[in-house]
Amino acid sequence: MDNSEGYAIELRRIVKRFPGVVANDGIDLKVHRGEIHCLLGENGAGKTTLMRVLYGLYRPDEGEIILNGQPVQMTSPRAALNHHIGMVHQHFRLVPTLSVEENIVLGLDEGTGPFMNFRKTREKISAIADDYGLSVDLQTKVWQLAVGQQQRVEILKALYRKVDILIMDEPTSVLTPQEVDQLFTTLRTLVDDGLTIIFITHKLEEVMQVSNRVTVLRKGKVVATLLTAETDKPTLARLMVGREVVFRLKKSPMEQREKLLEVNDLHALNDRGLPVLRGVSFDLFGGEILGVAGVSGNGQSELAEVLTGLRKSTKGRVFLAKKEVTNCSAREITDLNVAHIPAERIRMGIVPALSIRENLILKKYRRPSFSRREFLNNKEVEENAQRAMSDYQIAAPSYETPAKLLSGGNIQRVILARELSENPSLIVAVHPTYGLDIGATEQVRQVLLAQRERGAATLLISEDLEEIMTLSDRIMVLFNGEVMGILDAESADIEKIGLMMSGTRRKGEEL
Ligand SMILES: Nc1ncnc2c1ncn2[C@@H]1O[C@H](COP(=O)(O)OP(=O)(O)OP(=O)(O)O)[C@@H](O)[C@H]1O
Ligand SMILES: [Mg+2]
Repeated sequence: MDNSEGYAIELRRIVKRFPGVVANDGIDLKVHRGEIHCLLGENGAGKTTLMRVLYGLYRPDEGEIILNGQPVQMTSPRAALNHHIGMVHQHFRLVPTLSVEENIVLGLDEGTGPFMNFRKTREKISAIADDYGLSVDLQTKVWQLAVGQQQRVEILKALYRKVDILIMDEPTSVLTPQEVDQLFTTLRTLVDDGLTIIFITHKLEEVMQVSNRVTVLRKGKVVATLLTAETDKPTLARLMVGREVVFRLKKSPMEQREKLLEVNDLHALNDRGLPVLRGVSFDLFGGEILGVAGVSGNGQSELAEVLTGLRKSTKGRVFLAKKEVTNCSAREITDLNVAHIPAERIRMGIVPALSIRENLILKKYRRPSFSRREFLNNKEVEENAQRAMSDYQIAAPSYETPAKLLSGGNIQRVILARELSENPSLIVAVHPTYGLDIGATEQVRQVLLAQRERGAATLLISEDLEEIMTLSDRIMVLFNGEVMGILDAESADIEKIGLMMSGTRRKGEEL
């Protein structure tokens, strides 16, 4: 199958330049019909850009797109859709106030006007959902869905438009391990039915698990295209970063310091008004990382929100360095030197239209060093931006670049730089490394350990059990809004934690 006819997609010498960056520097990519093809590369390697070119969101400066042997002009996502190409973006683009069903038909002719046949539409969507294991309630408003469910809606939306080629941009970074398994099953069913899937990731494990072939990008160029069965993780890692990768995290024994956070019998409701925290109690000490494990939706994100002032508790008390902070506002909590690395970065972590420089001082513009009376001290602000960009290796042409133009991983770096540069006393970190490539992940973990050394107390919420096991001093497992137990990380094993995550209370645990 070496002629173009054998490929669903052929990209030839694609070049895409942005001011100050060559995001795609002469990329060749051939994707077989009916395969799962992974695009692997570090943050900023050009993966999303390449797929936006294919999807008609960007016009390439040079190069050709060949579909089924024919050169095509991809002038818009609508054109891509006419060629049966669909894309699930790194950051979802659903309309939160509309229902699942409305989102799926949005923009289609049948979705407008008074003649829409709801019953038929509903049946069609349900049939697709059943076929591919994508169950979700069609009447629910999208804002009420967990991220994993929103992703199903995005996939359903593409399938409803009868795509042959489905591009997925880092689909697993927002999913729990169980949801990842479900997604992989769905993807396999889709390729069995003849779809072609391009799957962007920086997780080597996923490449090995799901793909037929893999193309590695580095700094805008293709380094290699390989058959997955003929490669392995160390090879891929080396190709991706251009050097040997060694992971070494040094963690010194914990030095007990004073109690920084005390949470007593905390209760809260979720967005739907249902109990989501049901009597959570724990202590957190300076110099300690307390990992919170659990399947997503068991109260973790709400716990982070209550502790950072973004959600009111309905019962219980919270003390921060012996001061009661129960139901204080987010600003009051920030002013007590609490850092928050939120799960939903675009919605809660940055202001997309503002520059990197401005995003870096979002929370501290009232501090004396940055403002004199109401005027911002420009020099300080600029130096702060320069320092953050080098310390956290934020890749962008300049600190004036709007945050929305950054690659996914670089947005995360901006948030980390802002939140961690002021030596916080308490850090509430939710999935701090998702979306980050292996180099950046290691760097963030080191930053968190350095903060621990310095004496910060960290609540680390993550669905990555391996991450929790490597970083934490103690591990707390949440299930259905309750604490199933708190384990010493030293003696905890994955199996025990897994059982607790599914609702088995730790033996002898009196809570
Ligand atoms: N619209 C844009 N304007 C300016 N620069 C951009 C734009 N989109 C991407 N870039 C830059 O192009 C480069 C490649 O970005 P891209 O988003 O394709 O990376 P990526 O491989 O998807 O990375 P990640 O894993 O972090 O998502 C980055 O340096 C990014 O800052
Ligand atoms: Mg990307």
